[in-house]
Amino acid sequence: MSTGTILAIAIPVIVVLGAVVAFVSLRRRDATGLGHLSRETRRRDELAASAGDDAAASDDAGAFGVSAEAQELERAVAAERRPSPVAIAEPELPQDWAPPPSDEVGVTRRQFLNRSSVLLMATGLGTFNAAMLAFLWPRPTGGFGSKIKIGTVASVDEAISSSTPAENFSYFSEAQSYIQPYPTDSATLSNAEAVYGGAVLEGMRLGYVALWQVCPHLGCKVPVCGSSQWFECPCHGSKYNRVGEKKSGPAPRGMDRFPVTIEGGNVFVDTGKVSQGPAIGTDSTGQGLEGPHCA
Ligand code: FES
Repeated sequence: MSTGTILAIAIPVIVVLGAVVAFVSLRRRDATGLGHLSRETRRRDELAASAGDDAAASDDAGAFGVSAEAQELERAVAAERRPSPVAIAEPELPQDWAPPPSDEVGVTRRQFLNRSSVLLMATGLGTFNAAMLAFLWPRPTGGFGSKIKIGTVASVDEAISSSTPAENFSYFSEAQSYIQPYPTDSATLSNAEAVYGGAVLEGMRLGYVALWQVCPHLGCKVPVCGSSQWFECPCHGSKYNRVGEKKSGPAPRGMDRFPVTIEGGNVFVDTGKVSQGPAIGTDSTGQGLEGPHCA
C-alpha cells in the first residue's frame, strides 16, 4: 500500500474521531450545567435546595404521621441553624449642645478675665484715692516738716553765743538746722535785700537765718569748721560762709534755708517751707576765711 493511500484513509478517520470527541464533550457540559455559575450562586442554590428538603421532609413527616408539635420543633431547630441576618442599628440623631453646669466647670476663662480686670481697676482707684487723701491730709504739727518753736528769743540768743565747736554756730536738731545770727546793719541788710526775699529776708531783718543741714550738692550733712569759721562739706569739699553762701566746691548754690519768725517772744522755724540757697557768687556779709580748712 502506498503512502498516499495510507494518508487518504488516515486523515478522514482522524477528522471523524475529533468531531466525535468534541460532540461528546459538549453534551457532557450541557448535562451538568456547571462552569458558568459563581461559587456564591452555587452556595445559595444549595441552601435553597436544603430548605426545600427540610420542607419536603416536614411534608413527608406529616404524610408519615409525625405530630404537629414535632414538626414545629423541627422547623424551629432549622430556623436556628440558619444564619441570622445582621442587625442594623438605627442611626442616632445629633443632639443640641448644652453647656455643663457651672459648679462642675469652676471658673471659666471669661470669668477669670472679668474678675481680674475689675480687681485691677479697683486696686488702681484705691491707690489713687489713697494718694489723694495723703496729699490733702493736714500736715503734722510739732515735728520736722512743720512750723517748729525752737525757743524764746533769749534762749536762742544764749544758744548762739555759747555754741560749740565755735561761737556763732548753733545747731537745733528738731529743725535739722543751724540757726545763725545775721548782721542787721544797714549795709549788710541792703546786700541781703538785693539777693533774698520773702519770709527768709524777714527772718534776716530779725537777725536770724535758719540753714538746713543738708548739702545742696548730693545731700551730705554739712558740719562746721571751727578753724575756718565756714561750713565745710566732707563729701566733696563744698564750702559755705557763716550764713550759708557758697564759697567753693561742686555745690550748685548756697545752703537751703527756712523762714524764721518771732511770735510772742518765741522763735519759730517753718521747716515746711524750704527756700533754695542763694546763687553762686553771693556774698552778702563779706566774711572771709578765718583759718585753715577742715575738709
Ligand atoms: S555732698 Fe557736699 S559737697 Fe558733695
